[in-house]
Amino acid sequence: MIIEKGRLLKISILRFDPHVVGDKPRIECFEIEEAPGMTLFIALNDIRQYHDASLKFDFVCRAGICGSCAMIINGKPGLACSTLTAKMEAEISLAPLPVFELIGDLSVFTGNWMRAMNERLEAWIHQNEAADYNRLEPRMEPELAEQIYELDRCIECGCCVAGCGTIQMREEFAGAVGLNKITRYQLDPRDERSGDDYYELVGDEDGVFGCMTLLGCEDVCPKKLPLQSKIAYLRRKMLEVGLKKACSCEG
Ligand code: SF4
Ligand code: F3S
Ligand code: FES
Repeated sequence: MIIEKGRLLKISILRFDPHVVGDKPRIECFEIEEAPGMTLFIALNDIRQYHDASLKFDFVCRAGICGSCAMIINGKPGLACSTLTAKMEAEISLAPLPVFELIGDLSVFTGNWMRAMNERLEAWIHQNEAADYNRLEPRMEPELAEQIYELDRCIECGCCVAGCGTIQMREEFAGAVGLNKITRYQLDPRDERSGDDYYELVGDEDGVFGCMTLLGCEDVCPKKLPLQSKIAYLRRKMLEVGLKKACSCEG
């Protein structure tokens, strides 16, 4: 039986470990044979197994749901485990996501950025009274539940953050991931915060008015979330609150 050989893939990786004294950023190129159904995650494992055991990259689920394998793939943020090499040219370049703390090579620590953003935006359900776990939740219209579920599909991979020019200029900018969360809570009738409360959180240049509609976020979101239309929705809502506040001051 003749076994056909796969393509020869040339994978260039930006390597640097800030924790190794004297290490310098450099591009290293690895050649591996493509296998049927190969993803970039499998290719990286091949490299680590057969070429360089010190290569650092992250993964957990291998199914596009944990968000940990996000990296810059041929210049664009994406998930290594959901990217088939068969859909790419044989020459591939990989680099770590910018913005986040670099652990080494392709591995970054998105957790501290996401945690700080979640805490800053208080991204959880707020209720005025202490939770009564025996109380039945009020009925929610299925359409509204669907809308909230849609936004809850965010896996905090950081692709939208890495693909947003505003974050490069304004460190505290909530990013599409943060604005998506606020939209999600604002829609949720169980969250009892007022328009003013949301305005305090995102009604400024680090929030919804800082977004310059660069659109990179939606282009690179692996979960295909409707980030653009939701940012526009939130901006309209915050404008309404801002105008009301301005009128009541004048009165
Ligand atoms: Fe990732 Fe999309 Fe969530 Fe941004 S909004 S963190 S790109 S899943
Ligand atoms: Fe950034 Fe997306 Fe706005 S890329 S500027 S959050 S439209
Ligand atoms: Fe979980 Fe890729 S390993 S999203």
